This record gives sequence, C-alpha cells and structure tokens, in this order.
Amino acid sequence: MTRRCVCPGSFDPVTFGHLDVIARASRLFDEVVVAVLHNPAKSGAFDAGDRVDLLQRSLPEGLATTGRVRVVAFEEMLLVDVCREVGATAVVKGVRGPTDYSYEVPMAHMNAHLSGVETVFLAGSPRWGHVSSSLVREVAAHGADVSAFVPEVVQDALSTSPGPARPS
Ligand code: PNS
Repeated sequence: MTRRCVCPGSFDPVTFGHLDVIARASRLFDEVVVAVLHNPAKSGAFDAGDRVDLLQRSLPEGLATTGRVRVVAFEEMLLVDVCREVGATAVVKGVRGPTDYSYEVPMAHMNAHLSGVETVFLAGSPRWGHVSSSLVREVAAHGADVSAFVPEVVQDALSTSPGPARPS
C-alpha cells in the first residue's frame, strides 16, 4: 500500500523552511502531495497559480524528478477533503516553536475529529526557525537580500511583484 501524506500550507511564498519539511516528509512517506490552500486568516500576496509555480520550480532536483512529490492548489477546499480526494492518511506540518504548536494543535484535532486523519509534526530545523513567508515578503519589500531564506526563483518573483506584507 502506498503511504501518502499531504503537506498543506499557504506557501506565500515558499521558503527554505517549507522545502526542508517537504524533503523530510518525502523520506517518511512514499508520496507527498504539497497542497496550496487558502488560510482565511491571511489575505495573500501571490495568487495560487504563482505559489504552485514557485513551489514546483523550487523543489530540489532529486524530489522534482521522482514523481513522488507533486504540488497542487486546492484553494476552496477543506484540508480533510483534500486528504480524502488524494488518498492521504496523514498531514505533515513543520513546527518552529510554541507559537506554531498552539496554532497547529487545534487544527490537527479538528481535522482528526472531522475525518480521522492524523497530523505528524516535524520539529522545524533551527536553521529556519526565524524564517516565515510574511517576514521574507516584508524584508524583500524593503529591497534587502533574502537569498538566505528563499530559492532564486522566489527572490526574482519578490523583486518583480512586491506584495504588501501580510501575516503568514
Ligand atoms: O501555511 P499556513 O497558512 O499555516 O497553512 C494553514 C492551512 C492553509 C493549512 C489551513 O488554513 C488550512 O487547512 N486551510 C484549508 C481550509 C481548512 O481545512 N480549514 C479548517 C482547518 S481545521
């Protein structure tokens, strides 16, 4: 049986922290569906198509070519319905610290209540603990160098479409 998980998120835009979690999830599961979803608490800077495109172009060669990791937008859907649709038994999320944990746990319980899906939390790498999409957007909007936090394709996108900094 294929063990498939979903790595969900806003990915607005993808950072090295997200890519670390996706790579680690791919070592635990046979297949990873990276689901670009809508977070009602965030208004968004890049549209869903751009987020998918940036994710696809940011995946390391080893992941992009295996076919075991795919990136799909499910903008209007509940995460549990995405899991059902793609046949995933687990959600994988990175947790940078206590703030992420207290934000993620109620969602994990709600998703388990709705459908029985399990959430697996990966301890975020300390290397990326201070990196969030919103901080990257804010720093980039001021013209500062964000090459330590995001792939080159994302740097380019940030330099040509400097969306307003919103929480992420
Ligand atoms: O990267 P984020 O913004 O922390 O990811 C949050 C996200 C998009 C995974 C969450 O908002 C989500 O699951 N949205 C889809 C709608 C949904 O299922 N809402 C109920 C969550 S219990």
